[in-house]
Amino acid sequence: MSTARITIARDFTIGEVTRRLFGSFVEHMGRCVYTGIYEPGHPEADENGFRRDVLALTKELGATVIRYPGGNFVSGYNWEDGLGPAENRRRRLDGAWHTVESNEFGLHEFVNWSKLAGTEVMEAVNLGTRGVNAARELVEYANHPGGTYLSDLRRANGAEEPFDIKLWCLGNELDGPWQIGHKTADEYGRLAQEAAKAMKFVDPSIEVVAVGSSNSGMPTFGAWEHTVLSHAYDEVDYVSMHAYYQEHDGDAKSFLATAVDTDYFIESVISTVDAVRAKGKHKKFVDLSFDEWNVWYQTGLDSDDQPHNVSKEWKQHPRLIEDEYNVTDAIVVGTLLNSLLRHGDRVKIANQAQLVNVIAPIRSEENGPAWRQSIFWPFARMAELARGQILRTAVTSDRYETAKFGDADLVDVSATWDEERGRVALFLANRGLEEASEVEVLLHGFTGGRVTRAEVLQVPEGGDRFSSNVEQHQDLVGLVPLDGVAVDGSRATLTLPALSWAVVELEVTPA
Ligand code: AHR
Repeated sequence: MSTARITIARDFTIGEVTRRLFGSFVEHMGRCVYTGIYEPGHPEADENGFRRDVLALTKELGATVIRYPGGNFVSGYNWEDGLGPAENRRRRLDGAWHTVESNEFGLHEFVNWSKLAGTEVMEAVNLGTRGVNAARELVEYANHPGGTYLSDLRRANGAEEPFDIKLWCLGNELDGPWQIGHKTADEYGRLAQEAAKAMKFVDPSIEVVAVGSSNSGMPTFGAWEHTVLSHAYDEVDYVSMHAYYQEHDGDAKSFLATAVDTDYFIESVISTVDAVRAKGKHKKFVDLSFDEWNVWYQTGLDSDDQPHNVSKEWKQHPRLIEDEYNVTDAIVVGTLLNSLLRHGDRVKIANQAQLVNVIAPIRSEENGPAWRQSIFWPFARMAELARGQILRTAVTSDRYETAKFGDADLVDVSATWDEERGRVALFLANRGLEEASEVEVLLHGFTGGRVTRAEVLQVPEGGDRFSSNVEQHQDLVGLVPLDGVAVDGSRATLTLPALSWAVVELEVTPA
């Protein structure tokens, strides 16, 4: 049995939990849109062709803001192709995923779907093959009330009221050689600056995200952010981060400590952004939009220049990267969410990639069922219960040795305090593969009351750390009650099973 002591204090807060931390991502890729959220003819489809079963799971997941339409896809996309009567829309080749795009689903469909899902739209513009004009025209089409050619075209296409999209991505991964319209940092920095300026001329209320590095292993990481922001600091509100992780060669210990790397990545980007702020004598802060993150088994993909394996034939919505997630992956996802929350003073937006089928918490089959993957659970519970103020956590945990990240805490945690509801929520992971962990929580400035939630995701009976939910066994990995949580005044104790993720919510009163 390992041990850990966690201390939280009422006045030691990091900042407010922004709801946009629980974002997701819908790309025209594989089966995320087609046969994912949209499948006319499916028994669960509504009159728009939206799958009701997937919509219900999206709501249960608690996703708040959804990035659309890509991803790599957006860098070759003409947003106008998705307008007007579906039967008149142009079929196009999508070079990013080597796919035939029917354009049956476009901006109006996504906005309508988002309304039903209760999610905010985060729209990406194409700065790969297109530029300032297409970007500002899209803002005018979407957000201008009426009386101009583009805003009246939107109305003629059935949307009388403006879409009022507040959050815009200035392209996608343009530092990557695989990207259509790949650019140098200077080329992109100037383009982002001019696009942001022109888009804000149309609607000054929007917020824009500049493209940061595609991952921290990029040769230009750091220099890219510095150069881009040296051009565009005044015009942009956020810089993006992307990261995908996986277990390599059976090294579960390192994989479970992935969030150590995420912490470091986030802190490195903050340092770079703030260095530009200091050098340019800027007053405002540019915050971080971690708008693609997840576990993704990329091993075996084609090459560095084309890191995503695509079919050699041109198909419509082929199966692409439909990773099946296990218990270990779910625990890692829980710790990645912890890392995001612990940096919630600067990471203001985060989007798990993606929502359905493509490296996703939700899976669906064409003409078949939809179900929750293991990684659904930590996301859903944190989106539900992480409310109010993010609390600093002082952790004294037994540690373990990892090949990739040196020593790491066995127990990882984040915590929030919802003053309105009088609740403290703790999100905990035990990275120990064999040992349970005895955890003591000291609540300074609070008196603990009732335990309002105590649930754990662990290796299921008769299973192992590779157990996962599949079409035939959709509920093998999920949450079960965590017994034995005890609260005595300002001290709580609990035991985390080996290899587990848990949520504990307590009623508290200020002491
Ligand atoms: O989410 C899958 C892909 O990963 C996205 O299209 C791209 O931005 C990233 O490389």
